[in-house]
Amino acid sequence: MSNKIQKVAIVFFSPQENTRMVAEWFRDIFQEKGIDARTRDLTGLNRNGISEAEIGFLERMDLLLVGSPVYSWHIASPVEWFASRLPRVHNKLAVPFVTYGGVNSGAALAELARSLQKHGYLIAGAGKFLGKHSLMFGGKKPLGRNHPDAGEKALTKKLVDKIISGSFEEEGAADSISWQTLNNKRALVRMLSRTVNMKSLGPMMPKISINPEKCTKCQVCLEACPVRVISINTAPRILTGCIYCYNCVRLCPEGVFEASMAGVGIGIRGMAVMNRERPQSQIW
Ligand SMILES: Cc1cc2nc3c(=O)[nH]c(=O)nc-3n(C[C@H](O)[C@H](O)[C@H](O)COP(=O)(O)O)c2cc1C
Ligand code: SF4
Ligand code: SF4
Repeated sequence: MSNKIQKVAIVFFSPQENTRMVAEWFRDIFQEKGIDARTRDLTGLNRNGISEAEIGFLERMDLLLVGSPVYSWHIASPVEWFASRLPRVHNKLAVPFVTYGGVNSGAALAELARSLQKHGYLIAGAGKFLGKHSLMFGGKKPLGRNHPDAGEKALTKKLVDKIISGSFEEEGAADSISWQTLNNKRALVRMLSRTVNMKSLGPMMPKISINPEKCTKCQVCLEACPVRVISINTAPRILTGCIYCYNCVRLCPEGVFEASMAGVGIGIRGMAVMNRERPQSQIW
């Protein structure tokens, strides 16, 4: 019997817009089918996660989609905080999805699915989508350039059709997916993903230097930082909790924040050759 989906929440985090693009495709496709679908952007979320009001809102949803960029083979920390604060539900449907930059999606999708399952959600589907590599913003030919594209959009449509036509009435129902199914296919990646993460790689990321004398206090960086760890009170400063998205470097109009990204690009291309995954975009 088909599960009636009337209300859908699509929660996402997206410092550089790839994940937002996919989230908005999902929203539009559901809306075209007459389903009430809304997006919620996790920009600015802190460790305390979501408010009680938002928890109530999520509990009223028939389907929850959660999207994250892949950061060092894992989901980005605001999505992790969000997922850990979810209310416990009984047999509601959820769909995890990630966008990644063509190196490897690591353990991200499986860990997001696992977290949703732990909170009582049935995994009705999942998606992994190629996007422009957000650490290669300065280079000419970033990995995943021009993605997500029409191919990824077609996959989002297919996934929505699959979810709507599926039957997910009972825990363990044939059509629901267990998080283990979403494990990375490569044994080496599965093994290394226990040690590869932002904590271990953070110290190797390009350092951001600050030129306070150039600051005009325009406040662009305050909005651009997706985890709100920039202060310009006295002089521009980065507080603890930076996730290395480099939005401040990209978007400060005066070049107050600087980082040398060229070396990262070379390293990323090397890692992509060693860890490439096929197919690059996929739905379950
Ligand atoms: C700090 C950081 C770590 C990343 N780690 C990975 C990775 O492990 N594998 C990968 O393929 N792409 C990685 N990427 C690229 C992003 O996953 C990819 O560009 C994603 O689509 C960005 O999503 P957004 O545009 O919604 O921010 C990383 C990007 C950043 C900024
Ligand atoms: S964006 Fe740059 S110039 Fe504007 S307030 Fe921030 S540091 Fe200063
Ligand atoms: S301080 Fe800069 S690099 Fe760090 S999270 Fe904020 S915008 Fe991203």
